[in-house]
Order: sequence, then structure tokens, then C-alpha cells
Amino acid sequence: MGQIRSSYLGICMRTNVAIIGGGPSGLLLSQLLHKSGIDSVVLERKTRDYVLGRIRAGVLEQGLVSLLEEAGCADRLHAEGFLHDGTLISYGDTSFRLDFAENTGTSVVVYGQTELTRDLYDAREKADGKILYNVEDVAIHDLENDAPCVSFVHDGVQGKLDCDFIAGCDGFHGVSRKTMPESVRKEYEKVYPFGWLGILSETPPVNDELIYATSDRGFALCSMRNETLSRYYIQCEMSDDPGNWSDEAFWDELKRRIPETFAEQLVTGPSIEKSIAPLRSFVTEPMRWGRLFLCGDAAHIVPPTGAKGLNTAASDVHYLYRGLTEYYATGSEKGIDDYSEKALSRVWKAERFSWWFSSLMHRFPDQSEFDHKMQIAELEFLNSNRAAQKSMAENYVGLPY
Ligand code: FAD
Ligand code: DHB
Repeated sequence: MGQIRSSYLGICMRTNVAIIGGGPSGLLLSQLLHKSGIDSVVLERKTRDYVLGRIRAGVLEQGLVSLLEEAGCADRLHAEGFLHDGTLISYGDTSFRLDFAENTGTSVVVYGQTELTRDLYDAREKADGKILYNVEDVAIHDLENDAPCVSFVHDGVQGKLDCDFIAGCDGFHGVSRKTMPESVRKEYEKVYPFGWLGILSETPPVNDELIYATSDRGFALCSMRNETLSRYYIQCEMSDDPGNWSDEAFWDELKRRIPETFAEQLVTGPSIEKSIAPLRSFVTEPMRWGRLFLCGDAAHIVPPTGAKGLNTAASDVHYLYRGLTEYYATGSEKGIDDYSEKALSRVWKAERFSWWFSSLMHRFPDQSEFDHKMQIAELEFLNSNRAAQKSMAENYVGLPY
């Protein structure tokens, strides 16, 4: 743990829960705590516009939707989000529909992470919630006693935030996880030998549901944000650069990876965003050390196949928020003591699903012909077997909290 600089402490604050990171995890936790009368301060390294400029997830499980309702932030989602009762899965020119509604009685909502984050920022600002942007040099202190604190620099001024608890919601590259001593922290990781090249384009989606496609040329995903805004991804080389891909080259490659009927219907246009995301599975255990709790990408990463990243961050927030409200309402530490175990139990299942779906749908550089035959056999089994479809649909719509 870092030392607080001995210079003049320009900002001194006190709160119940210091939240490091103003991404979806930190903002949702802060808003839910506020609804229960628990004070928090969010420290965010970037600006609000920077956070809102990151194009990321697009599919929300009902569990996350319920949390947003509880946080009083679901009005726009209900008005503008799209309920999806199924998705198309294709391999070569064969495709089948995975019916969520029939297999699970529930559905998912297509609503961008950018919009969800904007709704949370708006709610926090409306409630006069304290968010400090452009915060630098965040360091965590005194976690092992009951008076922890966070030091930081804001607008060039040293600050100190005293608190009861710290929520590390600062993503994969944040400081919170690294504050836990290596002797208590165990990390599990798998890096996939490819990335996803994604584009956003102001064109109508090629289908009214998502299409997860695999082909001899690799994986592709057709997604959307609304009737006039589409999000498409193709598997690319790990070392690739978005600058290597003209829009035309992207569209040509996408068309080669999706069934011909959709390739013919695809409406193309200029991209308004183009980026590459690496694929990684990562979990750190435990998710709590002393008065510090890790939440979301700070504790785990999934490859994006199956859209579990944001949704798993939400289930962490659920367990932590319940534990903290129980503590402040009754003084019981049971909920916060159980946090790490409960969160990790669900995290590992989301890791398994994302790893399985990624392994099924991508071409691996060192893949043998046998490995490829196994993928096809599994897809054909999934195509024809109700029990396999039910299992996949249950995981896709989200396992219970
Ligand atoms: P983040 O969104 O990473 O937020 C963490 C916040 O903490 C950031 O705002 C960061 O600026 C801030 N921060 C970091 N360090 C510090 C510090 N030292 N001090 C203060 N603040 C700090 N999931 C899907 O389901 N589908 C997708 O298509 C998808 N695409 C993705 C693409 C990319 C490139 C990435 C990185 C992730 C993607 N994900 C996707 C995952 C999903 O977006 C994340 O799971 C989700 O953003 C997790 O939210 P979070 O709040 O835990 O972390
Ligand atoms: C999106 C991303 C995903 O990883 C996924 O599985 C589904 C949708 C998206 O960005 O729309």
C-alpha cells in the first residue's frame, strides 16, 4: 500500500463507501447505495465524456435490468431498449435459432453500455452524488483496520477520502486489485490467440436478432444498438491494427463469414467507430481483502463471446450492495463476509460459458482438422438437441443471482 504524501492535504472528505472507478460497476453500486441511504464518493481517472466514448457491451440480462430498475435508472432502457427472445447461430451456410423465451421463459435486452452509463451518470448527478473526474495517483491505505482511506490528486491538489469500506470498481488496469498483497491473491488467466475487430455503423441491422457466426475464415458477430445503428465484429489477428482495415475490407470479410442470405441483404456504410479488443479469460481470488471489495472487470475478464462481461460485473454489484445494506441496517457482517465466495461462484460459471462459446466459434491458429471436426459436431448437436439448447439458453440469458 502506498504512503499518503506528507504535503498539505487540500481535500479531506469522509464517506461510507469510497468507490474507485466510474464505469458501470462503480456508478451502479453508488446509485443503489444512495437509494438505501448509504453515502459514497466515486473517484474516476478519466472524464465523463471519455468514459461515455468507449463502445463496449450491448446485451443486458434481466438481472442487470432489475438492478437498474431498483436503482431508478431503467426508464430510458424500457423505452428505447429492445427485447430479444432469441439469437441466430450459424456455421457455414447452416444456421439455427436459439430460442431464449421457449427454453427459459425470459429474454435479454439490447441496450448499449454507453447508454446505460449515461443513465447512471444522469441519476447520480440528479441526486447530487459526488463523482470526482480526472483523479490521479489513487492509492489505498489501512485496509486491515476499520478506518481505511484513499489518497488521490485532483486538479493538482492532494486529497484524502476517509471511509468505512472501499469498492474497487476500476477495471482490469486499475489499482485496487494490485493493492491486495500477492501472498493473498491468486490469479487465473487464459489469453486467446486472436482479437475482435469491431465497427459501429449508421446502417440498419442485417437481422432483427443477433447472429453469432463461425466459418472457415473465423468468427463474426452481427449485433445492433437500434433500428439504424449496427455493431459488427470479426475475429482478427491478435497483432492487427484497425488502421489496416478499410471499411470496404471489413464489410467484404464480414460477408464471407455469415450465411449467404444475410450477406446479400447486408446494408453497408461508413464506420463511425472501429477498434480491436483482445480476448482474455481472467479471474482473481479472493474478491475481498480486509475492507476492500473488488467488483467487475477489476476482478475478472471474460472473452466477449456471449456478452457476459458487463452482466457479471452487475452480479458482483448485486452481492456487494446487498451485503453493505445489511451491514448498515443491522450491523451484521454476514453479507460482506460471504461476498467473495458468492460472487466468485457465479463468476466462474460465466467464465465457463464464455470460454466454451469462444472455443466453439473461433478458428484457432494451431487448430488441427480433428479440432475443427469437434467444433462442427458440437454445433450440429446443439442444432438438433433440445437439452443442449436449453442449457445454452439458460447461460446466455444469465444464471440466477
Ligand atoms: P470498466 O468499464 O473498465 O470501468 C472501470 C473504470 O475505472 C473506468 O472508467 C476507468 O477509467 C476507471 N479507472 C481505472 N483505473 C482507475 C484508477 N486508478 N483510479 C480511478 N479510476 C480508475 N462486455 C460485453 O458484455 N460485451 C462486449 O462487447 C464487450 N466489449 C468490450 C470491449 C472492450 C475493449 C473492453 C475493455 C471490454 C468489453 N466488454 C464487453 C466488457 C465490459 O465492457 C466490461 O465488463 C464492463 O465495462 C465492466 O465494467 P466495470 O465498471 O467493472 O469496468
Ligand atoms: C455485443 C457484444 C458481444 O460480445 C456480444 O456477445 C453480443 C453483443 C455488442 O456489442 O452488441
